[in-house]
Amino acid sequence: MHKIIVRGNNPLFGEVDIQGAKNSALKIMTASILTPEPVIIDNVPNIRDVSVMADVLKELGLTVAREGRKVTLQANGSIGIEAPYQLVSQMRASIIVLGPLLARFGRAKVAMPGGCNIGLRKIDLHIRGLEKLGAKIDVGQASLEVRTDRLVGANIPLDFPSVGATENIMMAACLAKGTTVLDNAAREPEIVDLVNCLNSMGARINGAGTSTLIIEGVERLKGVSYKVIPDRIEASTFLVAGAITGGDVTVKSVCPEHLGLVTKKLKMVGCEVSEGENSINIKGPSSLKPVNISTLPYPGFPTDMQAPFMALLSKAEGLSIITENVFENRFSFINELSKIGGQITIERHHAVITGGRTMVPGVVRAPDLRAGAALVLAGLAAHGSVEITDIHHIQRGYEDFTSRLASLGANIEITEDESLVELAVGDGLNFETPSAGVGL
Ligand code: EPZ
Repeated sequence: MHKIIVRGNNPLFGEVDIQGAKNSALKIMTASILTPEPVIIDNVPNIRDVSVMADVLKELGLTVAREGRKVTLQANGSIGIEAPYQLVSQMRASIIVLGPLLARFGRAKVAMPGGCNIGLRKIDLHIRGLEKLGAKIDVGQASLEVRTDRLVGANIPLDFPSVGATENIMMAACLAKGTTVLDNAAREPEIVDLVNCLNSMGARINGAGTSTLIIEGVERLKGVSYKVIPDRIEASTFLVAGAITGGDVTVKSVCPEHLGLVTKKLKMVGCEVSEGENSINIKGPSSLKPVNISTLPYPGFPTDMQAPFMALLSKAEGLSIITENVFENRFSFINELSKIGGQITIERHHAVITGGRTMVPGVVRAPDLRAGAALVLAGLAAHGSVEITDIHHIQRGYEDFTSRLASLGANIEITEDESLVELAVGDGLNFETPSAGVGL
């Protein structure tokens, strides 16, 4: 087991290249199921979730070859239809193989992804949408089985603009007979990226980025060579690193328009933010102003930036309120933040953050991907050293996070968590592999 040690309180300076979007790359990888031809994806980040998705697809029988940030996939051999628990339990996004398997082979069986520490993570919207396309669904305790003789286009209104449900239903509808109208669809840039990739494969999807997607089913899809968009959440995370340390940081290879509300909120807390064509520069102020934030589906403020902003606003001069409207349990890391100086009270889905706090040394545990990154950001502002354990969560979604922060001047390193090794030897404790919880 490893841990991160960050010795904070020095401003970050410099430039960092942003990697490809995790939450787009993973879904474009599953789109390769829809065709027997090769799908070549570029700008795929070198992160743990991509490795897990590659394992899921290999388990299904696809060939998957990785060369740096280029991944080549092909579903032309004998393709299974079952994604097993030991892989699905590591990463919830595995559920996105459902739609493509159903569309291409008429059957799919996926272990139930279950909840995780940011919420129940239900899949009722996925199920209802696939049923409207003509799938028969058996929901078991441990797994979900879907089958169909032929998917037929339908009008499908989503109760909530679910990213995953939009992706699963859209990919199933690509090969359905007739036209599907998906209302209240998700509008995230990652959805637009997936639509652009599918249309390059011969799909006929209109409305990308709006709440209404119109998918005209086609007979087959062809192979493609496609480059994934930059990761707006990773870019936002590095901008907050510049803001919380009062530094001067530029993120490069980004789409500034994808960070809409995040950059607006960074300006409201007092940062100087300037946008280039594919870059954003931030200069953090000597003192931060409080601000209120409500997370919402895109183009609202992204829920994935809620934890990093909670760390940032702990330093602001005054009271801030963050309201979490997307997930029902995404304040779980507040206990960890309070161990190193945070002071936050919860009132239902509102977090009231007392500002003017000085982050202090301590040992904390990363409960999930984005909260883990937020604890690192809090450590960057700490007077002394902060140790963060369970860092496998962070490695799921941020490529070389610590070395890239170090390149900006952060005093940060990954070391062996010898405390666990001693305990394990001394007390004979049996340490489970860390992926007991379902990935996000
Ligand atoms: C995607 O998760 C992202 N993950 C999440 O990023 C992101 O936070 C989320 O979208 C919202 O933007 C990936 O793309 C791999 P949802 P997803 O379906 O698709 C409820 C990260 O850190 N819901 O939009 O699972 C659900 O419970 C991760 O990178 C239902 O009720 O999100 C949640 O409260 C974390 N029924 C809300 O909708 C359903 O059938 C949003 O979920 C589906 C969802």
